[in-house]
Amino acid sequence: MGSLEVKKGLAGVVVDETAISKVEPETNSLLYRGYPVPELAATQPFESVAHLLWHGELPTESELIDIRTTERQHRQLRDDVRSSIDVLPISAHPMDDVRTAVSVIGGMDTAADANVMDAVGSPEENLHRSMRLFAELPGIVAYAQRRRRGQCPIDPRDDLDYAANFLWMTFGTEAEDVVVDAFNRSMILYAEHSFNASTFTARVITSTLSDLYSAVVGAIGALKGPLHGGANEAVLHIFDEIGSAQHVRGWLDTALEENRKIMGFGHRVYKRRDSRVPTMKRVLDELIEHYQRPDIAHLYDRLQSEFLLRKGIHPNLDYPSGPAYHLMGFDTLTFTPLFVASRVTGWTAHIMEQQAANALIRPLSAYVGVEERHVPGAAHTP
Ligand code: ACO
Repeated sequence: MGSLEVKKGLAGVVVDETAISKVEPETNSLLYRGYPVPELAATQPFESVAHLLWHGELPTESELIDIRTTERQHRQLRDDVRSSIDVLPISAHPMDDVRTAVSVIGGMDTAADANVMDAVGSPEENLHRSMRLFAELPGIVAYAQRRRRGQCPIDPRDDLDYAANFLWMTFGTEAEDVVVDAFNRSMILYAEHSFNASTFTARVITSTLSDLYSAVVGAIGALKGPLHGGANEAVLHIFDEIGSAQHVRGWLDTALEENRKIMGFGHRVYKRRDSRVPTMKRVLDELIEHYQRPDIAHLYDRLQSEFLLRKGIHPNLDYPSGPAYHLMGFDTLTFTPLFVASRVTGWTAHIMEQQAANALIRPLSAYVGVEERHVPGAAHTP
């Protein structure tokens, strides 16, 4: 055991195959089911990308109508889910609201808990559960933000598609096209990224033949951390600390002296550039132009160039998405729940892929504790 090579953080370890997405750090590219993600973001509604991740193909016209119809049927925030969120203190992080809500949805799905041996469910049941979570999460995320602001939930609007309705349920006003389009693209960019920490968590849970809801709840927990999804929130905290572009240098001096991690920079897989950043940066630029906020552009550019100069580390997707969500009007604490609403499509695609060719995920460890010893007076059985 002592001679085993330890791969700390599983860095560089290939644990399984996947047909859902391909991350190519060498060419800075990311494909969902073979399609370049910038092309999907430029042309598709998020509903089509959800269908693509689950089924492997973009929907036909009638399939898109079907997914949109089902999504509308399950949009309404349910009373039982709302009550479960209301039990939590207002000071709870909205990621806790979302995690609790998904757990309650799972507990209320009686088909899921009849018998532990049946928990995994059929492919059809799991597709249906995936679809429902996809449809229900916007209402949950919108309510999590509204509750913190002391506002009531807003009923969905049947005349609006996914992205426009999500913004409607959050703000109670009809968003302008430029904002709907920006939001739609951000959802597509966040939807899937191979064996990242939260997706891997979902696959580990699935590999024990647990149910889809348990796997999604675990994935939400993994996403919350600032080294993963929580970084988009953390970027805005950093922007708030710095204040304006002229303070970047001094702030960075202190942060680097204190060995702080600068959130929104660096990536385990991409060592040069994150393939998703150029598309999200364009989204941010459009919002900056729309809302006339050159101050954000200056701070963004100065921090990026100073940090690159000093540490040679590039931004990841969370760097442009943090200020973009801020400009759209979301509270900073809502940013990671937005990531959940998008990534639930990728997680559930991976859960179904894991179920289809399962092997229990159970790695080894190299023991470094004390050697065998014996309790005084105990009979020693070799
Ligand atoms: N700020 C400061 N230093 C950094 C950063 C950063 N953001 N990222 C990497 N480094 C440094 C480390 O301090 C380390 O330096 P050292 O070798 O002198 O000790 C070196 O670069 C390697 O970093 P690791 O953390 O060991 O690399 P790893 O591959 O494990 O890290 C990670 C990837 C966790 C994402 C890291 O870059 C990080 O913490 N970034 C900030 C958090 C973040 O933005 N997360 C979002 C990830 S993307 C996503 O979830 C959409």
